[in-house]
Amino acid sequence: MKRLSLLTLFAAALCCSATAQVTHTFDIQTARPGAVIQPTMYGIFFEDINFGADGGLYAEMVKNRSFEFEDPWMGWNTTGNVEIRDDGPFEHNPHYAHLSYSGHRVKHTAIENEGFFGISVKKGETYKFSVYARVPEEAGNKAYFEVQICDKSLDLNQHKLASAKITVEGNEWEKYEVDLTPFATCEDGVLRIFLRNSNFKKPQNAVDGPSIDLEHVSLFPAKTWKDRPSGMRQDLAQALYDLHPGVFRFPGGCIVEGTDLTDRYQWKHTVGPVENRPLNLNRWQYEFDYRFYPDYYQSYGLGFFEYFQLSEDFGAEPLPVLNCGMTCQFENPIEGEATYHVAVEDLDPYIQDAVDLVEFANGADTTTWGKLRAEMGHPAPFNLKFLAIGNEQWDYKDNPAYTKRLARFIEVLRQKCPGIKIIGTTGPNSEGWDFDLLQPRMKQLGVDLYDEHFYRDEEWFLSHGLRYDDYDRKGPKVFAGEYACHGKGKYPDGREKKRNHFETSLYEAAFLTGIERNADIVHMATYAPLFAHVKGWQWRPDLIWFDNFRSFRSISYYVQQLYSHYKGTRVLPLTMEGEPVAGQEEQDGLFASAVVDEVAGSVIVKVANVSDTPASIHLNLLNKKKAAQFAAAEVITLHSDDLDAENSLENPEAVVPVKAGLDAAVRDITIGPKTFQVYIFKR
Ligand code: AHR
Repeated sequence: MKRLSLLTLFAAALCCSATAQVTHTFDIQTARPGAVIQPTMYGIFFEDINFGADGGLYAEMVKNRSFEFEDPWMGWNTTGNVEIRDDGPFEHNPHYAHLSYSGHRVKHTAIENEGFFGISVKKGETYKFSVYARVPEEAGNKAYFEVQICDKSLDLNQHKLASAKITVEGNEWEKYEVDLTPFATCEDGVLRIFLRNSNFKKPQNAVDGPSIDLEHVSLFPAKTWKDRPSGMRQDLAQALYDLHPGVFRFPGGCIVEGTDLTDRYQWKHTVGPVENRPLNLNRWQYEFDYRFYPDYYQSYGLGFFEYFQLSEDFGAEPLPVLNCGMTCQFENPIEGEATYHVAVEDLDPYIQDAVDLVEFANGADTTTWGKLRAEMGHPAPFNLKFLAIGNEQWDYKDNPAYTKRLARFIEVLRQKCPGIKIIGTTGPNSEGWDFDLLQPRMKQLGVDLYDEHFYRDEEWFLSHGLRYDDYDRKGPKVFAGEYACHGKGKYPDGREKKRNHFETSLYEAAFLTGIERNADIVHMATYAPLFAHVKGWQWRPDLIWFDNFRSFRSISYYVQQLYSHYKGTRVLPLTMEGEPVAGQEEQDGLFASAVVDEVAGSVIVKVANVSDTPASIHLNLLNKKKAAQFAAAEVITLHSDDLDAENSLENPEAVVPVKAGLDAAVRDITIGPKTFQVYIFKR
């Protein structure tokens, strides 16, 4: 956060107050703390969309490392004598590359990987290359290859940025590893592997250049999140950590459901040795209509173990979402239910997967799945508390397609996993016939929370400030599991307004005051989607954008971060003329909420002014017992004069929160037009 001087702030306040008319009084009951704000309140929702996992958070740099894509050479260029064989060492990923003498003394045999939008390396940094290799029995006992990181745009003398020579011995599969340190930076590089002879020159003849088998070709930066080998991208994991998320929903989204049952997300495929995690199609590849051939798959290198580990790193409660026996209902009609969805009487394996996941997370290391967790490096339980069943599923008026399946899960989970809180869903819509059908059914089924999704436009966000004020307080708690303000329409130059621009982020900030005020009923909220590669996105807006080297945090990210960092511990009643401040008529575009942080000893007031004029506000910090005295105060402001302003790779901090000191006695404030502010009064 940037810091402004006190003087600057006062100058800005004075300048605004010159034009402000009415003074609005916010009555804030500082001595009457209300609902507890759940530690889970603001979190993150990860889905492998927009190259969020492979090519994103999961730092593997080689695309199609196991030759398992539908086209096994996708991502690879080849020359010479190469072929794909399918009796490799890893049962679930059986394909590998067989390289042999080219047939001519001067011709190469080599393979070249293009990476995810290029193999991108930085000068002087270390990259960990590894591969499983063997000499095929018919080819003797030794084979030689050279691995190179190359910049194709450079000349003969310079293009090889780093290289290593490796001798493979024996006919058994072994892992070979070497560190590569490029002498120059290159964003659009390639990884090359040349078959060599014993002098590490081109093979001169068939005897000279024996064949070699290669499997699971991998390249990772040495620097990863927490320096874990073959781990997560440092900057992206750091961005998540910096949000201080209270809950971490994973792995989706539609990806949980699959385009059909075969490619649904199955957590058991994502644990154990990475080499043997079966590749799965990524259902988001079909959203790339500008790509000729689909090349978006899930290697599951970021699987359920890594997910639980990250949750622990971030101090966030893990919240897995599991398939409920239904595929994506948008893509699969309910007619022919048996084909697209699992019949209720056949749900047992799906339910067992849920029970087993709880064992994987929480079971003793003597249990089947707890033992695997321990073998993977985490003997202590992960202390899983939540489980969501189904993503965006819905019922039909004449067929409770989702709830009849959910009921079966609940029955078993309540009995076998009694401590786990179960989360249902109200489908893809935050209102309408499907929502109206499901919301009462969630209550009848007795779920602990239900998941609401709303990707809505500006008008919706501004008119739903009171959304949760009328919710049944006895009902299940709410998890606002996917939301984002999607700008409606287009700019004059034809670009869609569905972007991470300041205006929509401001409206999210305004709307979130209503979530905060209703913390007794809303227990979790997560923006979606989380990540997007600038060269590979399908969906926007997104919280964090990146390319292979850089990343930036959207303005929405900063909104979430402000709410998360200043979430407080309990809600304080805040009213204006006896009404909650939620942008109603005659409230002049103001939205506000207040909390107390009983640990830090602070009172925090969040105010959004979505109008075009400054607003004068008197913060009436009521406390009957003793006058509300504070030793210090500060204000954090999120504002841009340009509603279309966006952060970007080139200008990552175009709009960021700015922190300034404030006189602790100040109660009369002026908030500029189109501005979000967080006031913090400290005892
Ligand atoms: O966040 C993108 C998608 O939006 C999710 O996969 C799905 O749940 C929703 O429709």
